[in-house]
Amino acid sequence: MIKIKNVTTHLGQKINHQIDGEDRVIEAEGLVMLPALIDPHVHFRVPGAEYKEDWESGALAAICGGVTTVFDMPNNTPSCISKKRLAEKKAIIEKQLKIPLRYGLYLGADQNHLDEIAKTKDQIVGLKIYMGSSTGDLLMNDPKALEKAFRLAAENSVLVAVHAEDEDLIKKRSAECKAALQTDPKSHSMIRSPEVAQKALAVALELAEKYKTRLYVAHVSTKEELDLIRKAKMKGVQVFAEATPHHLFLTTALYEKLGTRALVNPPLRDHVDALWQAIKDQTIDTIGTDHAPHLLEEKMRPMGSAPSGFASIELYLALLLNAHHEKKISLEQIVSLTSTQPREIFHWPVNSDVVLVDLNHEQVVKDSHLKTKAKWSPYAGMKLKGWPRYTILKGKVYDTQMVP
Ligand code: DOR
Ligand code: ZN
Repeated sequence: MIKIKNVTTHLGQKINHQIDGEDRVIEAEGLVMLPALIDPHVHFRVPGAEYKEDWESGALAAICGGVTTVFDMPNNTPSCISKKRLAEKKAIIEKQLKIPLRYGLYLGADQNHLDEIAKTKDQIVGLKIYMGSSTGDLLMNDPKALEKAFRLAAENSVLVAVHAEDEDLIKKRSAECKAALQTDPKSHSMIRSPEVAQKALAVALELAEKYKTRLYVAHVSTKEELDLIRKAKMKGVQVFAEATPHHLFLTTALYEKLGTRALVNPPLRDHVDALWQAIKDQTIDTIGTDHAPHLLEEKMRPMGSAPSGFASIELYLALLLNAHHEKKISLEQIVSLTSTQPREIFHWPVNSDVVLVDLNHEQVVKDSHLKTKAKWSPYAGMKLKGWPRYTILKGKVYDTQMVP
């Protein structure tokens, strides 16, 4: 039995708490207990890019970040688009996991494999549709295939998660900005403009309304998308919106400092205030990290060959706790966005995992501290106040300062 003494709940009550599991007493005076986090959006790179992350390093990074459940994306090599590939992926994950992280997997939508939706519906957390291309070769932008995917997902009670960027518009804008694209990282945000996201999302919302598909909009990054989502929610469309830490905490100013390292899809924007407003008015339902590790040497490549994405799972909670100190978000909202709501949206069973945080601990983010194989962070140098101290998963305590 784990006995947690004198811990404060996120609602401010001081309690003693017990969890079935190893024999351990934690003197938790001064610590605050939250449900362990669910990260509904990670890329742990298996199979095919284990040098960027695998489930040993990914699980360690997750635990250090207060996360005990992750939902992993299908843009692997090969892409996870069938029951067979899901089974193969799961077998590798089970071999790699040292810390027994809880996880769910998305099926990737591929227009030639849409019959896999029915075959895998009980094994997946959702169907991921890339409406615009990003890392990997998953892309589904043919209108007929999209219709069919939304229809089949609804018929099989499968949640559709979209990467909403319009491929044709990305191509058109890339052709127009060819010169800038080759040299200037900032052009990434201009090419993948707010209109690019808005156009794809409008299509997804229309299909969700038509077929009554439950729709999860990954990495909402613009006020234009938020307006569309607000309207759709008012109409009764079953749509859920995710915000990422990088769109909440970083802006296009980062290109000056980081160059190609600042590339991410959808790109950095200057819509931070609109996103925080949408957290306040509950247009945003979840926070997902979009933990997308790439090595520094890959990120430093020139425009055109540098990949997009940031590793961030181990800073997920610290960034939010720091924002709590800045009065941007309450502990109750953090719990709702990182645990209660993802659980409800993805129909994920309740468990006893918790994270104990030290709200007063201040620490500067250092690349050398990171457990992810990416070993670099766009947040390096930031001083954050409030860090996970113990993460409790399946009745075992992980001291986040002690894990090797
Ligand atoms: O920036 C991104 N990186 N966006 C995506 O959609 C994919 C991700 C990755 O897997 O690298
Ligand atoms: Zn992603």
